[in-house]
Amino acid sequence: MNKLLVSLVLSLGVAGSAHALQGDAAAGAGKVAVCSACHGADGNSIMPNWPKLAGQGERYLLKQLTDIRDGARVVPEMTGMLTNLSDQDLADIAAHFSTQTMAGGVADAELAERGEAIYRGGNLKTGLPACTGCHSPTGQGNEPAGYPRLAGQHAAYTAKQLTDFREGDRTNDGDIMVMRTVAERLSNKDIQAVAEYIQGLR
Ligand code: HEC
Ligand code: HEC
Repeated sequence: MNKLLVSLVLSLGVAGSAHALQGDAAAGAGKVAVCSACHGADGNSIMPNWPKLAGQGERYLLKQLTDIRDGARVVPEMTGMLTNLSDQDLADIAAHFSTQTMAGGVADAELAERGEAIYRGGNLKTGLPACTGCHSPTGQGNEPAGYPRLAGQHAAYTAKQLTDFREGDRTNDGDIMVMRTVAERLSNKDIQAVAEYIQGLR
């Protein structure tokens, strides 16, 4: 593992705290009617800039929902939608989406080749760690640690997140700025390639 990755993983371990709330997936299913218009009834959105939520890790989802509700992550499309939801509501919603199945995607072969090299190998010259260390070789993420699943996600959404982290427009990745540190080392071309690879990953 490269040095940056080791230090990021160690600091995440210290920063990560277990969430005590237990989500009820069945109760959550009754609280997501308004979400389906964008995220799909089965958690698989049609529009490439709306993220698929199906099969995403429960802990990661709960953190994002809390961040979006409380303003730590700004999603203009969702303004006001979570305001009246309690922590228990958010836990139920997270449990619900995590039990659904993410639909796979297809990647452009040429772009994906460059993307695979970045995803699996990082870049020694720029100190970019491989994505596999935290998001797993198959892109399933790390549920107990709260590292998100990436495999099958829309490339347009993934590319936007990486750009947002790099430009400081998404800042909810913790005090150690794990994804801002990673994204800082990615060019626009890298971002396009790795996002494309991730879309086809399964
Ligand atoms: C009008 C469309 C729209 C609606 C309705 C909507 N969302 Fe979203 N949601 C988005 C967009 C767009 C993003 C990504 C924004 C960005 O680029 O960061 C998002 C992001 C998210 C994320 C973060 C996903 C990730 O991988 O980090 C979660 C979780 C989420 N929405 C849950 C919900 C829930 C629960 C509801 C219903 C209460 C809902 N959304 C309603 C458009 C919508
Ligand atoms: C040291 C661990 C670590 C490494 C290495 C890492 N990530 Fe992440 N990544 C995270 C964590 C933790 C989050 C969740 C941040 C948050 O809570 O918002 C995340 C979030 C993301 C997201 C947002 C997912 C979503 O649904 O919105 C994307 C995209 C992403 N990472 C891509 C990558 C790529 C591509 C690489 C390799 C170039 C990479 N990551 C390397 C830990 C890591």
